[in-house]
Amino acid sequence: MSPSKADWQNLDEYLNVFAQITRNFMADLDERPVGQITPQLAKLPVSLQGEGFHQALAYLCDHIIPQLSASRGPRYWGFVTGGATPVATFADWLVSTFDQNLSFDGDSVACEVERHTIRWLCEMFDLPETFNGIITTGATASNFLGALCARQFAGEQQGIDVAKQGAYQLEVEIFATTPHASMIKSLGMAGLGQQSVTRVNAKPDSEAIDVQHLAELLEASQKPAKIIIASTATVTLTDFDDLQAISQLAQQHNAWLHVDAAFGLFARLLDDEKKRNLVDGIELADSITLDSHKWLNVPYESGVFLTRHLDKLFASCNVPAPYLASNHEAPSFLALGIENSRRFRALPVWFTLLAYGKQGIASWINQSVNLAQQLAQKIDASAEYELVHPCQLNVVLFRPACDNLQLDIANQKTAEYLKAINLDGRLFLSPGRWQGKNIIRMALSNWETDQLDIDIAIQCLQDIAKQLN
Ligand SMILES: Cc1ncc(COP(=O)(O)O)c(C=O)c1O
Repeated sequence: MSPSKADWQNLDEYLNVFAQITRNFMADLDERPVGQITPQLAKLPVSLQGEGFHQALAYLCDHIIPQLSASRGPRYWGFVTGGATPVATFADWLVSTFDQNLSFDGDSVACEVERHTIRWLCEMFDLPETFNGIITTGATASNFLGALCARQFAGEQQGIDVAKQGAYQLEVEIFATTPHASMIKSLGMAGLGQQSVTRVNAKPDSEAIDVQHLAELLEASQKPAKIIIASTATVTLTDFDDLQAISQLAQQHNAWLHVDAAFGLFARLLDDEKKRNLVDGIELADSITLDSHKWLNVPYESGVFLTRHLDKLFASCNVPAPYLASNHEAPSFLALGIENSRRFRALPVWFTLLAYGKQGIASWINQSVNLAQQLAQKIDASAEYELVHPCQLNVVLFRPACDNLQLDIANQKTAEYLKAINLDGRLFLSPGRWQGKNIIRMALSNWETDQLDIDIAIQCLQDIAKQLN
């Protein structure tokens, strides 16, 4: 079977089937196990002649859809997972309809939409106009761009254009306390080395940088170039680094400051002034990572990379080629990012910002934090579970009650509970580790999570405790 233009005569049928599948998927979301823990898929040989739309559709409906997770639903609390709001979902459908390529300007308005989106995001998060950037596939890609810019900056201090000449002669020291795994991955991919980080002590009972120790390490460093990686909400404790103090040190030592604010930047939208102020100083960073498919609740894949030094991004990603030239005064996106050809993934973000506005978005950010606090209090008050750390933002850290149990036995008990909770199907949670303890993480970042979900979660935890005791 090969496609033919006449297939578009079936457009109405495709749209009807699409609407039906979408309606069914949304309607079943609450009954669907939140996570599919043991999916199975028969290995088929590649089809030679093609099975045609109806056969492929039947296979999709019989074997794939029933085994998908309800990760877009309100009780998928593993990792840091957003859902997708109705308007973001709608805009994302249209991305395929329009199928634009946002490499460079010259054939449509789409790149301009991405620039407006970046500007709106900066405005919403109170970041100065000196920041610019690009929509990425997620926080990992943004952290990678951060590593590339920092590497380019370090090279310039030593007369090396790293993008052109390579990183093998580069001398640089990288300082971090609790970098996200994706940051470590990015350092490896950027040729700086996954194991190259000088670990700065954390503050007591915290994952945040001990600024005094950082100051000492910077002072003692013999390397001609320095990079500091900070966090605006670490993935386990959701700790915020003191960016005012750290940016001062960065300035003093001519170091690049990259801040992974994948979900923590959203704290700028909270009603609680104390929590809002935790983000203070981020405007002094050289580069920032932000994720839209987390708390902004747009569909995967959507992240943002922001920097005050677009020239470093351009130097890292641009390759002159006559057929890629553009007349637009702003640099082409293909010269600012990983991909040359790029999806119109700005559209769901643009649509979200326009349709819901800062206040609409802030409403679900506040709701996540309030519900997480409530969940933490209920767990703290229960006999069967213990809170491992006070809930500081949208993440609840707990384990089954382990009084007097040896660490390895407590860890095993925690792993068993997590497995049983995820097999139950009402919740999907992920593991974590804090001070040598296995812990269970619940991260609330879905716009749809409400009081009923908290009640279901508490009931689920009680049922599991009964089942395992
Ligand atoms: C702080 C932080 N940085 C980076 C990432 C990686 O994000 P992504 O999976 O979107 O690449 C995460 C994901 O949880 C995160 O929490």
